[in-house]
Amino acid sequence: MATIIDGKAFSANLRAEIARKVAILKQNHSVTPGLAVVLVGEDPASQVYVRSKGKQTVEAGMNSYEHKLDVGTSQADLLALIDQLNNDPDVHGILVQLPLPKHIDEESVINSISVDKDVDGFHLSNVGRLSIGAEGIVPCTPLGSIMMLKDHLGDLSGKRAIVVGRSNIVGKPMAALLLAESCTVTIAHSRTQDLPSECRRADIVVAAVGRPEMVKGDWIKPGATVIDVGINRVEKEDGSTKLVGDVEFESAEKVAGAITPVPGGVGPMTIACLLHNTLQQACRLNGIDVPE
Ligand code: GUN
Repeated sequence: MATIIDGKAFSANLRAEIARKVAILKQNHSVTPGLAVVLVGEDPASQVYVRSKGKQTVEAGMNSYEHKLDVGTSQADLLALIDQLNNDPDVHGILVQLPLPKHIDEESVINSISVDKDVDGFHLSNVGRLSIGAEGIVPCTPLGSIMMLKDHLGDLSGKRAIVVGRSNIVGKPMAALLLAESCTVTIAHSRTQDLPSECRRADIVVAAVGRPEMVKGDWIKPGATVIDVGINRVEKEDGSTKLVGDVEFESAEKVAGAITPVPGGVGPMTIACLLHNTLQQACRLNGIDVPE
């Protein structure tokens, strides 16, 4: 049976470390990291995420600035708010919750965020930096995934990795991070031929397609490490719902060497990495080294 990679415990440790460093930053430099989260509209899932981000930001000792805008907010008004946050010295991270309403162009909004406050790592400059292996801000979910992989496996160099899914938020940056760790990387997607065989070659499988339980146990090479990024709500036979990943956990845990569960795997790492990025940028914007 596979070792369960406990993202809940890992993220709790990471958040405690961040809180410790924030306390040092406040004490020694009078700087309190600040994260602004912008939510447009009332998407229920987004509201849950935003609440959770705000709570954990405050628990880490940082300032949380929440901006909740009406669903009918114009793109011009949203850009004006971002401009204000870009120029606010108390704000070190800006996150605009996605998806945005249809009348707003997401790319224009994301690229209007100051590169050094783009704690999601979605700005074209940060995407470009990651793709050439330069220093920049790394998207939170892939960052959390690579942290867990390195913690579990140590050196990743030379390992065969497959990323199933090619989204801009997870699949592509994940592949770039694995490449930076000197893995041999395959990116699979909906047009990939014989996906099960491609997966079976991999020492590391990262599933990020958003299809419930798509990756089966017999697609996994015995002993491989499986990172399940999926969070899918599915209906059970009795009509109630439960969360499942993109990997069929029951069959996969019998074959894998290690696997992240859903919930309690990658999920909690995402917000912890958001706080990590905010702390890094608060230091950078103030010309201070991140406390040891
Ligand atoms: N919506 C779903 N995931 C994310 C994320 O990581 N960042 C932002 N800004 N919005 C999201």
